[in-house]
Amino acid sequence: MRRVVLLACMLCCTGILAVTRPPGVYIQPRYDVFFKAGETVEMPCVAEGIPNPRYTWQKNGIDFNPSGNDDRLVQLTNVGTIVINRPEDKDEGIFQCFAENDYGKSATININLREAKLKEFDVEADVTFSPYLGESQTLNCVAPESIPPPEVYWVIKEQYGGLTPINFDARVTMDHESRLRITNIKAVDSQDGKAYACMAMNRIVRKTTQGAHQFIIPRGSSEVQRPVTYMWASPTDHFGLRGDEFRIKCIFAGNPTPDVHWVRPDGKPLPDYAKQSSFGQELVFSRLEFSDGGEYVCWATNALSPQRVQRTITVRVESRPYWIEKPRDVVLGIGETARFKCLADGMPKPSLNWYINTVRLGDANMDKRFKRIAFDEVMLVNVTKEDAMVIQCNVTNKYGYIWGDVYLNVLCKYLLGFIPPV
Ligand SMILES: *[C@@H]1O[C@H](CO)[C@@H](O)[C@H](O)[C@H]1NC(C)=O
Ligand SMILES: *[C@@H]1O[C@H](CO)[C@@H](O)[C@H](O)[C@H]1NC(C)=O
Repeated sequence: MRRVVLLACMLCCTGILAVTRPPGVYIQPRYDVFFKAGETVEMPCVAEGIPNPRYTWQKNGIDFNPSGNDDRLVQLTNVGTIVINRPEDKDEGIFQCFAENDYGKSATININLREAKLKEFDVEADVTFSPYLGESQTLNCVAPESIPPPEVYWVIKEQYGGLTPINFDARVTMDHESRLRITNIKAVDSQDGKAYACMAMNRIVRKTTQGAHQFIIPRGSSEVQRPVTYMWASPTDHFGLRGDEFRIKCIFAGNPTPDVHWVRPDGKPLPDYAKQSSFGQELVFSRLEFSDGGEYVCWATNALSPQRVQRTITVRVESRPYWIEKPRDVVLGIGETARFKCLADGMPKPSLNWYINTVRLGDANMDKRFKRIAFDEVMLVNVTKEDAMVIQCNVTNKYGYIWGDVYLNVLCKYLLGFIPPV
């Protein structure tokens, strides 16, 4: 008897028996997906929803049918995930996956699918340098084009094709533009006549390529002593993005090898997550914070330069948009008021757009019912069962965007008690 009453209540309240839920994408790729030509690449897109959502895609803003007439592309069953076998450069583009059921439409971020590649170095003649022992020497390296950017390192070319990586120390190091910097030449730098070469490596295509041979034939029979002189440093006005790893470096020439130190002229201590590396020449912030902005001084001395030789670097910190509070799904009873927050910040200050079921709010007919109660908060009063929807916000500045995608589900109050909060 009680069961019949319960059933009747649910029927009158919801119109249908089953619980329904708008879709929400919960597996999606990062902003950039790289592929190696010919090697299978996958763009995952998986959503939850009741009933199960249908999936569609757009490529460069145009509807795109993955299971069209190209048998290299497969969309996996029951999900949106696309697998591309033997991808080619024509597969590159901006992709977006949508998951839709009768209660709303959820969307992924825009995925930038790109072919990874590494070009060869420009052909250049071998070079030979003849510095005096004790002087400094720079070996140039113009790394070839690479997507994503290459890792660059320096090697000594052994006989029979072997390569020995150069061990860096306080005397021999690399600047942030891939050049090899020797702060004072020693006889060992001749490397017994073997060549120096810079190498560029792209991990995605799993390929390396080599620059021109460079030789060092030191002159003189004893080392000249040299005072400290500036050789290379990070830009004096240097900016980084909050949350990223960030490095500043100073290289000073001199013999004996200068000792490099860092201080903040305002007297603030260096934060714990800032480590000195490269024998003091470099300051590495594992995750840059706004509070790291300001002036940094690197200074060096050696036996001939007891007075500090120094350089000031001003660090500015900007930021991609980031969440102050991530938007959350909202489940309500009929007649209640829904509030959606999209609390984010960034530097420069980001702008924000709202969408309903992927249609920009302002274009959608539902406008009238929405109240924008703050820049970053919208409200919908007296919700009905028909108001189930997916609501999106896009917070963007010149460094990128973040995408909120949450749903509003409206249930009869009786059922509400049975649905665990998401
Ligand atoms: C968010 O806005 C930015 C800037 O207009 C745009 O580049 C990006 O594609 C948008 N993201 C989505 C998922 O629509
Ligand atoms: C809420 O919506 C219902 C149905 O649309 C309507 O009958 C009722 O008057 C509304 N209540 C308020 C306070 O607007």
